[in-house]
Amino acid sequence: MSNIIILGAQWGDEGKGKLVDLLSHQFDYVVRYQGGHNAGHTIIIGEKKFVVRLIPSGILQPNKKAVIGNGLVIDPIALLEEADQLMAAGIDVAGRLFISNRAQVLLPSHRVVEKISEARKGKTPIGTTSRGIGPCYEDKAGRRGIRMADLLDREAFPALAEALIEDQRIKARAYGVEDAIDTAAIVALYQTAAEKLRPFVCDTAKLLNAAVAKGEKLLFEGAQGTMLDLDHGTYPFVTSSSASAGGACTGAGVPPTKISGVIGISKTYTTRVGGGPFPTEALDAAGELIRKRGNEFGAVTGRPRRCGWFDVPLLRYTAAINGFDSMVVTKLDVLDELAEIPVCTGYRIDGVLIDEMPATFRELAKVEPVYTVMPGWQTSTRGISEWSKLPPAALRYLAFLEEQTAVEVGCVSTGPERNETIRRAGSRFLQLTS
Ligand code: GDP
Ligand code: IMO
Ligand code: MG
Repeated sequence: MSNIIILGAQWGDEGKGKLVDLLSHQFDYVVRYQGGHNAGHTIIIGEKKFVVRLIPSGILQPNKKAVIGNGLVIDPIALLEEADQLMAAGIDVAGRLFISNRAQVLLPSHRVVEKISEARKGKTPIGTTSRGIGPCYEDKAGRRGIRMADLLDREAFPALAEALIEDQRIKARAYGVEDAIDTAAIVALYQTAAEKLRPFVCDTAKLLNAAVAKGEKLLFEGAQGTMLDLDHGTYPFVTSSSASAGGACTGAGVPPTKISGVIGISKTYTTRVGGGPFPTEALDAAGELIRKRGNEFGAVTGRPRRCGWFDVPLLRYTAAINGFDSMVVTKLDVLDELAEIPVCTGYRIDGVLIDEMPATFRELAKVEPVYTVMPGWQTSTRGISEWSKLPPAALRYLAFLEEQTAVEVGCVSTGPERNETIRRAGSRFLQLTS
């Protein structure tokens, strides 16, 4: 049995799309378990660039099955747009895309509610992707959400949508946003979309558990990253779903006893989009260099990503939450030009070393990082695909990350393309993925 979870160890955009695409030919199903079209997973194949948001990155490998699990919030219009874009690029989704009948439906009015919440006087904005993700999960937890099975119920959907939208309208009015929501138009638009989606919708937990029983292999693809997880991340500067490994079981309906491993993906440095504390943020020329060389701009919103150094305490924390068996380290090539590379090895607050992740953003904002400065390699690693060909200083850097985090570096990414990857011989990573 080899059903594995691969997910972000930091604040998102670690390179999940590239890795999932690369690994998916070893698996039968690629499964998304949380989030929505706030995710943006980039896959580069030759001259072609794909950014998938709701559809699992595995869709780009021919004959692989892609599952959108019950843990997601789905904007049907965004999903159809994404499917159309893939079809236009010659990637057929028919017969191999499966959408959970229990996933939540995201309405345009969720974006209105989010806008109000982000702009509220006296509240620090989260800096969301403005896709309506948070309010949709709020309605799920409030037990007034609409699920895909409801959307497909021609008779029930109009009344369910009206009731939910009326709730949102009351909120909008209270904040002086008058009737930006046209219920009849939304219902008509969504009912048309429902007919296009109907052939794809099913009980995906049943499908996946039957696949497991037959010995087929599942690859779970995390969206966002552990530090954006609703429970374990830098609350309230998080997304509204369970991005960490535990979320894979609830978000797909596959039991923990069927999971054989968890792989964390981390950049060789750190980035974050949106608000919230970021202890190793580099607000100087080095941060700017990383942004430029790493092309650190949001795949969904185009926002510049905040850049900083590798953060060992953060990695130790996310390794503990997820139980990483192995770590993939991406974007090594981005650091190629640097003469010195700081790595944060400890957190101090008021001069005292702390050994746990602060629970509040106020405390985390007070953290002074303790750095060890590693020598850079100042030679190109772009495209290197063998461990032994890495420059000695890069090997020392990777060994340092491994030793400090106590997680093996099983794979290194040296460029955005599939073949720009080193899979380390003898690693737990190789065992789990081949
Ligand atoms: P995801 O959300 O985790 O899938 O990551 P994104 O796609 O949002 O951002 C990662 C970006 O880095 C994408 O543009 C990738 O093409 C790119 N990328 C991934 N791995 C590497 C790498 O090793 N080197 C370089 N230079 N770029 C990479
Ligand atoms: P992938 O899957 C990076 C961030 C937003 C914001 C916070 C909440 O590509 O790694 P939301 O719209 O989810 O309510 O925003 O979470 N965020 C991401 N940052 N990568 C992502 O996805 C993200 N998805 C959400 O910037 O700070
Ligand atoms: Mg991304």
